[in-house]
Formats: sequence, C-alpha cells, structure tokens
Amino acid sequence: MSNQSLFPVTPELAAQSKINDEQYRRMYQESVVNPEGFWREHGKRITWFKDYSKIRKVSFDDHNLYINWFYDGTLNASYNCLDRHLETRGDQPAIIWEGDDASEQLTLTYSQLHEKVCAFANALRGQGVQRGDVVTLYMPMVPEAAVAMLACARIGAIHSVIFGGFSPDSIASRIIDGKSKVVITADQGVRAGRTIPLKANVDAALANPDVNCVERVIVLKRTGGDIDWQDDRDIWWSDLMAVSSPHCPAEEMNAEDPLFILYTSGSTGTPKGVLHTTGGYMVYASMTHEYVFDYRDGEIYWCTADVGWITGHSYMVYGPLANGATLLMHEGVPNYPSPARMGEMIDRHKVNILYTAPTLIRALMAEGADHFNDFDGSSLRVMGSVGEPINPEAWRWYYDVIGKEQSPIVDTWWQTETGGILITPLPGATDLKPGSATRPFFGVQPALVDNMGNLIEGAGEGNLVMLDSWPGQMRSVYGDHERFVLTYFKTFRGMYFTGDGARRDEDGYYWITGRVDDVINVSGHRLGTAEIESALVAHPDVAEAAVVGYPHDIKGQGIYAYVTLNKGIEETEALRQSLRQWVRSEIGALATPDLIQWAPGLPKTRSGKIMRRFLRKIAANEVGSLGDSSTLADPAVIDDLIQTRLNRS
Ligand code: WT7
Repeated sequence: MSNQSLFPVTPELAAQSKINDEQYRRMYQESVVNPEGFWREHGKRITWFKDYSKIRKVSFDDHNLYINWFYDGTLNASYNCLDRHLETRGDQPAIIWEGDDASEQLTLTYSQLHEKVCAFANALRGQGVQRGDVVTLYMPMVPEAAVAMLACARIGAIHSVIFGGFSPDSIASRIIDGKSKVVITADQGVRAGRTIPLKANVDAALANPDVNCVERVIVLKRTGGDIDWQDDRDIWWSDLMAVSSPHCPAEEMNAEDPLFILYTSGSTGTPKGVLHTTGGYMVYASMTHEYVFDYRDGEIYWCTADVGWITGHSYMVYGPLANGATLLMHEGVPNYPSPARMGEMIDRHKVNILYTAPTLIRALMAEGADHFNDFDGSSLRVMGSVGEPINPEAWRWYYDVIGKEQSPIVDTWWQTETGGILITPLPGATDLKPGSATRPFFGVQPALVDNMGNLIEGAGEGNLVMLDSWPGQMRSVYGDHERFVLTYFKTFRGMYFTGDGARRDEDGYYWITGRVDDVINVSGHRLGTAEIESALVAHPDVAEAAVVGYPHDIKGQGIYAYVTLNKGIEETEALRQSLRQWVRSEIGALATPDLIQWAPGLPKTRSGKIMRRFLRKIAANEVGSLGDSSTLADPAVIDDLIQTRLNRS
C-alpha cells in the first residue's frame, strides 16, 4: 500500500475520540468471542421498561431460521427517542428544520417534539389505529414526518414509509402489501423550487380498484396548493391535532415486536417489505450512530438522506434521537438553488457531523470547488458517506473541499436489511484508505466466499456474507417469511448473503465492489433491473426488454435498457421518450432509463436465457472483452447490438 493513499488517524484525534484503535481491537474481539456478554452490556444504552435477561437466540440454518435479540425485554422506541431526554434536555433543540427556501426555518425542542408526537399518537388512536396495524407514510422532508413515525412507534403501530419520489402504482402495491387502513401525506412537497403532488399521487394510488383497505388519509398542509378532497376519507392533520390530548403513555412493546417495514428492491419480484423489530434495532442504531460518527453530546448532526430510505430511519430519526442529538433536517436538496447551498447550511447551523452520499459529492465536484470559496466549515468534525461505493477522486474532493483536510471520512457500508452500519471506519480508530469501507463494526462478522460457498481466507475477492447475526438485522419479509429465507440464506448455507461483492486487502480492509445480483444502484437508490423490465414490457409496443446498469459519472450507475419492439412498431425518438415517461409513471422518476437501445434481438442461450453479461459489457462500452459467445442461440445478435450501442464515452 502506498502512503499516498493512507490517511492515518492523528494522535490528537485518537486521544479525543470515544474509541481509539487499541480499544476498537479489544472491543471487536470481545464482541465476537463473547457476544452474549458484549451485548448484555451494550443493550443497556436503551431504556427498557422490563429488563432483558435473554440476549440472543439465532439460527442461520435455512431449514430452521430464527433471529431474536433481547427477546424477553420490553421497551418503546418513541420513549427512547423522547421521554427519557425530557429531564436533562427538554429545552435542547431536537430538530432544526430548514425549508427548501432557506428563509423558512423552524426549531423543535425535545419537549415540543414530545408533545407533538403524543398528540399525533392520540390522533392516530382516534382514527382507529391499533397496535400491530400498518400505517403508510408518504411525506415530504418536514418535522411532521418524524412526528408521524414516532407517533406510530408510540402506540405500537408499524410504519411503512414510502419515498416521495415513487409513483401512484408503487404506492398502491405497498399499501396493498401492508393492508394499511391509514395513509399520512401532505398536500404537496417542495424540492428544488418545485412542488411534488403528494396528495394527488395518493389519490391516484387509492383510485386503483385493488386498493380497498384504506379508510382514512391524514393530510398535512405544507404549501396550501390546490388538491382534491374526499370528505368521507380525507382529514387535515391540523384538525386532528387541534383536538388531541398531548398526553400519551408509550405502549410497552416486546423487543421483537415490529417497529417498521420499509420496501426495497431485489433481483426478482416486487419490492420486499423489510421488517425491523424494536429492541435490537434501537440498540444497534443508537450505538452505531454514537461510535461511527464519534457523536458527542450537544453536537449538531446533519444527515442529508430522505426519510423514505433506511438512512433516514436509522440515522436521521431513531439513532440520533435515541442519543439525544440535535439534528438538522433539510426539506430540499443540498445543491439547490446553487451548489453553494451545502456549505452555507453547514456554516449557518454550525454542523459538526455531516452524513451524505457519493452521488451528491460527485455532482458538487462537477460544478467546481469555486462554490465553496466563501465556505468556512470550521464546525465540521466528522463526515460520512453512504449508499454506494465512493470513488477515490470523490473521496479526495470531499476530504479536501468540504472537510478542509480536517475531518475524517467514514465510508459506511450497510443495507436496508442490516438496519444499521456494518462495515465502517471509526474516526479515532481507523486509518483511512479512500474507497474502502475498512473494518467491521462491533459484533459484525463479515466473510468472503467463492461462488461455491467456500470461505476465502486472507486477502482476496468474493461474495460478501455475514457469518453471524447482529442486533439490527431484519427479521423477515413482511407477510412472506419464506421469501426472507430464500433471498438471504439459501445462496450460501448458514450465512446471510448481502448481494454485494467485495475485496479484502492485506490489512483486512473491505472494498465493496458492487452488487453481484441483478440490482443496480442509481444515485444511491436501489432498483431491481427486473422491476424496470416488467414496467417496460407492460407497454403495449414492447415485446421484450433487458435492463442493466452502466458506469455513470454522477449517478454511479445509469440505467441502460435494451428494448425489442412488437412487429410493425417503428423505432422512433418519440417512442423512446414515451417509454422513458412510461417507466417514470409506473415506478417513479428514479427508475427512468438513461439510455434505451433498440434491440431487434437479445443475446440468449439455446434454452432462452438472456445472457446479461454481454449486455452489461456492451452498455459499459467494454466491447473489446466480450468473451465466448459460442453458446448463444444466435451469436450475430451481439454484433448488431455492438454496432448500435449508445454509450460510447
Ligand atoms: C446497497 C444497499 C445503506 C443505506 C443506503 C442504501 C450499496 C451502501 C455502501 C458503501 C459501497 C454501498 C451496496 C448495498 N452500498 N453503502 N459505503 N460502499 N456500497 O441502502 O438501498 O438497501 O442499498 O447499497 O451495494 O448492498 P440500500
């Protein structure tokens, strides 16, 4: 390893931080040698109504799979995020909110947030929501999104948050899967100066004849824009709150009672409802938030993720609030109205910890460092990266321009399924290598296996698996436990399969190489290629479609679609545009194909299986190294596709 690519922990940083390298090694060792003892101790960071005596009962055997943590303890997530702080930090800001338009600012102290959550929890009860019911949220980035989540948790309801960029069809399928009786939304959202028709999208979703479970839609007035109203179904958030009591004791939940579901894409089928439970999740989210960001009492913490993603759950709501942090929440995007916005917000709010995504860094980088000429940045101490591999150039830019060479970057690897961060540096403990997520967090046992499932020892590359459970692990796919077992535990027996590939270097550092399944990562958003294909083939003019990812400078991966049209349909630019629009309205803007190549034929084996490996290479413009095409039914198809390929960068 060359010294140039190593950013060692300075002795000063090691001395000030919660965990130095020696402590990391000792604690890590203890966490895997004696997990019972380790987690018995660290579970205490959460306030339990009834203490646990049982620590873990886990089996990764695919014929007899179970995952339980702290399972005779009882607690409430909302109580841990609010009530337990009231005495010591009732007047401390819990959420500092900045609108899309920076002139809109709002602060909620822990007491104020507590009061709102209690009132809204009572309101939900008043609408008939009971323990165990699924409540769907389709919300903009406003404090009420956190209020609604915590209110659900308070009464033992299971929230299911849908990202505001998803289409009515995507909303409908998630509502049906969760059998939600109540949906919470806003009239409109605001992002980058534009309004987003949240209520209209919910209306359209509920107009779907297959959705017949929803009895009530609670609507927050954000913009006051025009919306349709159904008197027997819709009710204003403010009308409910006006008559709701602000006293609401928190339900006593078992550690293994569900806290939320969150849908995520896989390589096959429709998105899965990832189910997280209460006790282990809270212990893990709060502990990782504290140690990974070396969070210190009184600090201002800014996570740029949307509540619609797992990062917005674990590291905007549950982890930081459980730790009594002050969090900055931004309604819009950090590069609007100009790329200077992010620096301005850091300075305005004296942000100490910033957690963002490589795609944003690359977008800012493309705009040029000049936008940061007036940026002071002296408050910043730790910076995080999440969602996709960060390329060393973006890492360097983040480190130099935003961090002014003063703040370590924690490149955190995890997944919706893992609930919290699994592989990451700790600021005061881990020497950094740009592009590497480095070492496992406490209790996490990553391993690499070859395609046969054989363990790879030492330095090497393979499929990334986890050999044992950690408290934040998902427990099931909502309503389909078999699918949980099949997706994660059958590929490699006795191990949790992440779907990612990774390399481990001679220092034991992990370098994530990306997905090894048919999942792509577009601007940190996860999409199944199969989902986009089924949207395309649902179009009346399309006979067949194959979708792959290709390297994209800003987004990490772009969406490349090969489309075979029905006989007699002309390959026009207008049709290409309308297919893009079609996918957008079927799934959401984030799934819009970047490139659509007309494919008179697709490369298939004689048994009819599409050979995606060729399609990936052609999309990546790597046509010099295609490999053996002799097993194809019609090898000439490949030459055609190469001739007309679209990404010649
Ligand atoms: C997939 C999970 C983790 C919350 C946001 C995304 C990729 C995530 C990193 C990283 C390289 C990363 C993986 C993973 N990924 N973080 N630091 N380095 N790749 O959650 O939507 O469930 O996606 O994102 O491929 O499997 P998600």
